[in-house]
Amino acid sequence: MKKIAVLGCGTVGSGVVEVFYKNRQSIQRKAGCPLDIKYIYLRRPRPELPWQDKLCYDFDTILHDPEISIVVEVMGGLHPAGEWIAACLKNNKSVVTANKELIAAQGAQLLALARQHQVNLLFEASVGGGIPIIRPLHQCLGANELDDIQGILNGTTNFILTKMSREGMCFSQALQMAQQLGYAEADPTADVQGLDACRKICILASLAFGRQLYPQLVHCQGITELTPEDVEYARNWGGVIKLIARAHRDPDTQQLSALVAPMFVPHDSQLSTVDDVFNGILVDGDATGQVLFYGKGAGKLPTASAVVADVIDALKEGVHVHDSLFWKPAPKLEGQLKDEAVYPWYIRVSGVSAALLPNVAGAGHTVFEADGQAAYLIDAATAAQIEEALRVGGESTVVVGIGTIATHLRDLAKSYKEAQIALEV
Ligand code: HSE
Repeated sequence: MKKIAVLGCGTVGSGVVEVFYKNRQSIQRKAGCPLDIKYIYLRRPRPELPWQDKLCYDFDTILHDPEISIVVEVMGGLHPAGEWIAACLKNNKSVVTANKELIAAQGAQLLALARQHQVNLLFEASVGGGIPIIRPLHQCLGANELDDIQGILNGTTNFILTKMSREGMCFSQALQMAQQLGYAEADPTADVQGLDACRKICILASLAFGRQLYPQLVHCQGITELTPEDVEYARNWGGVIKLIARAHRDPDTQQLSALVAPMFVPHDSQLSTVDDVFNGILVDGDATGQVLFYGKGAGKLPTASAVVADVIDALKEGVHVHDSLFWKPAPKLEGQLKDEAVYPWYIRVSGVSAALLPNVAGAGHTVFEADGQAAYLIDAATAAQIEEALRVGGESTVVVGIGTIATHLRDLAKSYKEAQIALEV
């Protein structure tokens, strides 16, 4: 009998325990051995939970119990999760985690530690909820050079944008609904400001390109300032607004660029139909061409499904340490490098007449003007030019800049500045 410890019993943790006991027979068959959950670690008692005989309030008990061969970390956050995962790996226990913040920040170091101790550190649930994406990237697509990954990686913001687009809701109404349905994080700031998607694209890019990409290097713009008017304009333009996360490597120069920003996605892109809490990830392999991964990117049971699958993978008979699930550390660069390329831009300003916009923002055309607001589509500008235009724009307030995204169907220019770092391979 192999024994599991689960650290944390929030939405995902309770889902893991539920899925485990619901499907225990088939999980054991797939793992090739009898399994049970011995401990569920909590910070404080929770009398309402049904698994009282398993509750444990002392991490050291778990760490030093030789019966525990695998630890599931679903507490989230950097501390103490990072220290505890490191301690488990050093004690030769494999770890399964859904912790995207931690893997995006310290993945290289933790993977090296796991390798050193010949145990597994698996994190399928950290990106895309129930969608298999980590394992396909390093196993099924292992024969490919992956130079482009782009997609919708945050269920909460996609749900909000879908409600704004389909039902004409404003941002705050749609966010409230997402929170009620349990999609948003306890503190939704990381979701709506794009940081959650940023952490996820950094994990995918690190895995695909072999070097840690730190979230602070990536330009990250959220959706908090989008209005129903922007959504309406996107519809007239011929598409929808989606929060897109993208990582790209130039095959010739090896330059890496990555960004998270709301973008106009044309109706003929597959990503335009990824709605509600679903995520869609387009991965471009040099042998396969584009592969689309689609499914529920958030929620208790989809995420628990990915966690439990990792548990099976780590425990099954004859399992080896996954050498392909690995990337190297990278130097921690300061700031974000600017993208010098020109793109079309969509800006919305208040307190300035649309007639003045060509002088301030460059050539383009007015999209709408009403109630003291004007939206303007700039034909082509660099990020630096846009920033300068906004600076000299006096009282005008740019609410949001949105652009279009390159898709496999239409070669539209993407927008907003990208952070670029040299990738030393
Ligand atoms: N809050 C996240 C999302 C949960 O909305 O996608 C899954 O990581």
